[in-house]
Formats: sequence, C-alpha cells, structure tokens
Amino acid sequence: MDLKDIDALIIKLNQELNLIKNAKELEGFRLKYLARKGELNDCFEKLKELSVEQKRVFGPKLNTCKKELEQRFKEKQSLFDKVTEEFFFDYTLPGKKKEIGSLHPTTLTYRHIISVFNSFGFEIFESNDIESEYYNFDSLNIEKNHPARDMWDTFWLDKKYILPIGSKKDEFKSINLLLKTHTSPAEMRFMEKNNPPIRMVNMGKVFRYEATDARHEFQLHQLEGLMIGDDISLCNFKSIITGMTRKIIGQKDLKVRLRPSYFPFVSPGLEVDVECFKCHGKGSKCSLCSNSGWIEMMGAGMTHPNLYKFAKWDRYNYQGFAFGLGVERFAMLKYQIPDIRVFNSGDLRFTKQF
Ligand code: PHE
Repeated sequence: MDLKDIDALIIKLNQELNLIKNAKELEGFRLKYLARKGELNDCFEKLKELSVEQKRVFGPKLNTCKKELEQRFKEKQSLFDKVTEEFFFDYTLPGKKKEIGSLHPTTLTYRHIISVFNSFGFEIFESNDIESEYYNFDSLNIEKNHPARDMWDTFWLDKKYILPIGSKKDEFKSINLLLKTHTSPAEMRFMEKNNPPIRMVNMGKVFRYEATDARHEFQLHQLEGLMIGDDISLCNFKSIITGMTRKIIGQKDLKVRLRPSYFPFVSPGLEVDVECFKCHGKGSKCSLCSNSGWIEMMGAGMTHPNLYKFAKWDRYNYQGFAFGLGVERFAMLKYQIPDIRVFNSGDLRFTKQF
C-alpha cells in the first residue's frame, strides 16, 4: 500500500459523494465504501500487513480521512432527510383565487357625502386625531368649568405638550392633549388660516370615553361642515342640508326639519331631523324611526360670533352655519345596519357585503 493510493481514494470518494443526488444513491455509496465490508475497511485490513513504522504513518492518516468522510456523509444524509417526498406539480389542479378587498362602509359613506358637498363647492380640510384642550373646547366657546364639557366624555392623554413662550428661555406653557371628541376643532383650525367666504368639510375620527352598546361606540367618524360669509342664513343651511340628504339617500322629496338644541359654539343651536325614508314619515310600525316618522341626523347651528374673535378675524359681523354628522350613523341608516359595533369588529362577514 502506498500513501498516494490513500490520497487518490479519498479524492475519488469525495468526488463521488458530491455527485450523489438522492437517498438511494447515498445508500449505495455507504455500502460500497463505508460499510463493514466496504473499500475503506479493506484499507484498514491492509494496515495489518505493514511494518510498525509504516503503521504509524498510515494509521492516523486513514483514521482522519475516514472521520472526515463520515462527517460529510452525515451532512448529505440530513439534506435528503428533509426532502422526504418528491415534489410533483399537478397542472390540472384548480388555482387558488386571490381575495380582493373592498372599501369599508364608513369609507364608502363619507366619500359619498363628501362628493356631494364637493359638488356644492365645499373644499375638503384634513385635521389630526390628537387635539389640544384649547382647540377641542376653549376656542369653541366651551369654558373651563362649563357643564357642556360633559357632553363630550374625553380621553385625555398622559403626556402634555410643552411649548416655549415669550423670549425668556425658561418660560414654558404645558398644553393638555386629548383624542378629539368631535370634528368641530377643525372649524377653528380652518378659520385661523382662512378668511370668509368659507365653505369647508372635514372628515375625521372622534373618540368618546363612554360605554358601548348597539348605538354607541368609543371611536367613530364625524363629518363637519362650515359655511361663513356676509349674509349666510338659516335658509341657506336648510336648503343645502335638504339637497345633500336627498342626493345621498336618493329620494327626491325627503323633508328635513330643524329643532332647537344647544351647542356652545353655535347660536341658535339645532338638531336636524330627516323624514324617515323607510316609512316616508308615516311612523307606523317602522323599526328605522321607532314610529316617530323622523330620523335624527346631525347637530348644527349658526356659528357663534365668539369664534370669529378666537380666530382673530378683522371683523366679527360675519354670518354662517356649522354642522356635524355621525358617518357611521348615516351608514347605519343607509344600509340598515342595526348595531354600530360591527363597524370596528373586523368581521369580514360584515365588510365583504359592501
Ligand atoms: N360637534 C357637535 C357634536 O359632536 C356637533 C355640531 C357640529 C353641532 C357643528 C353644532 C355645529 O355633537
């Protein structure tokens, strides 16, 4: 036996091992070389015939080679263990359909409402979900301890916003932050940046700290509208709101009525009702309007002149109206959805219907 023979054998075995493609070939390789009667063991047999000096050289060499080969054999084996089954591609199987999403009913509803206001010349204004106490309450004529603040149960944020004031370095003012409870702060934000004539709509999320049931949610969407000019009157409001409601609900002769109400940022304050579009105002055995013939639609009113002062306008004798309607409420009426909680439930059985 020659050292060269061993080297040649090892190279040959490594090459063969590299070419092996499946578990069956690997087993053949094991039987031929690594098994008890394999070629590698033959070499060990031949060692016995060598002299002591030769054994010292050949023995360790053969041993390390055997170990290395066994190691590589194991690696290859674990590779084939993973691929236990052959991969077959069956071209005759029917394909899997990709699910295509659809727009959420809230999105559909507010897009619809906004497009109608757009056609009336109202521009769209966007605002934040987090608001300061000033914009949500103070600037809307809602004083610090006024009981009207209870109308909007509020989620306050732990963190305060710190603003530097004045020129001195150490003068800071901390501002209370909250999740906006209505979209009316957008009125003030818009009024600060624009002068009359104004026609704007704003859509946003609002949050109320209250228990949920079929008619109440702690997170919903509102649509705010504001129109201010020199001589905008309640008549303009009634005609625009009537036109809008008729267009959205798709019934030409729907009646709208105004009832007195109270919101500190409007005077007079109004509640707007629409004739029930299921029983057409008859109010008999109607689940939609609970037999009243009317459906409550939104809060509204003529803008309070104090707001013009807060907005720092040049004069305070403008006239205008504002309104805020619940988008989910509108969608519930339009699509006859009985429970407001389904909107945020994430239940695809609900959203897939739109
Ligand atoms: N912001 C009021 C609410 O959340 C609705 C409203 C808007 C009322 C504008 C009057 C004018 O209930």
